[in-house]
Amino acid sequence: MERLDKYIASRGTESRKEAQKLIKSGAVTVDGAVCKKPDAKVDPEQSTVLVNGQAVGEKYVYIMMNKPQGVVSATEDRRDKTVIDILPPDLRREGLFPAGRLDKDTEGLLIITNDGDLAHKMLSPKKHVEKRYEAELDGEITEDMIRSFKEGIVFADGVKCMPAKLETVPETGKTVGIVTICEGKFHQVKKMFAVCGRKVVHLKRISIGNLYLDGKMPIGSCKYLTNLEIQQVFMGNIH
Ligand code: URA
Repeated sequence: MERLDKYIASRGTESRKEAQKLIKSGAVTVDGAVCKKPDAKVDPEQSTVLVNGQAVGEKYVYIMMNKPQGVVSATEDRRDKTVIDILPPDLRREGLFPAGRLDKDTEGLLIITNDGDLAHKMLSPKKHVEKRYEAELDGEITEDMIRSFKEGIVFADGVKCMPAKLETVPETGKTVGIVTICEGKFHQVKKMFAVCGRKVVHLKRISIGNLYLDGKMPIGSCKYLTNLEIQQVFMGNIH
């Protein structure tokens, strides 16, 4: 059983406060009867909750963000703006969090959801969901670096990374690489290049599994993912 205001806030686009106002105004029915008590208990599996005659939305939402630089991948932060702070008002609801972290200065594909299971599956190294990054470097990519990435980079503290793929982007004079990793250690891509004596001057995530950042999305914008796009996260990883 769940509180009615919490249920509406987690399923709909309303905040908890807005949900409470709606309930008190008589706009909400539970199994056909108006319910004006925000703290009434509902069974999410059994009850039909309508707001202004409309069923409250899906339990889970999945949002693609083209994350800009300068915001942190967290739900709250005392100093910086978070990816949740910059969500457009119509996509906001309670319980959303970024599935995985991009550094403050990293751009690109970020999934924001309220589905903890999906986030876990996406992030667990055991599930081998490939994350692909475009990294601009302060120097050339050498064959030795490609080999080291393949063998598994070892950080200065002895931590060993899983084998990763490093490819060059031909037109860029070998200073832009595409890195594919299946794990998400803290500052992983930057640290992997640092071991090879390179500094990452710009980092952008371009895909998760088979889901690619929508090239038409301006930096900082968001959109709901379709069911097919969510499935694509888990496609293309034959390990
Ligand atoms: N690796 C990094 O170093 N930074 C990121 O934001 C993501 C992967």
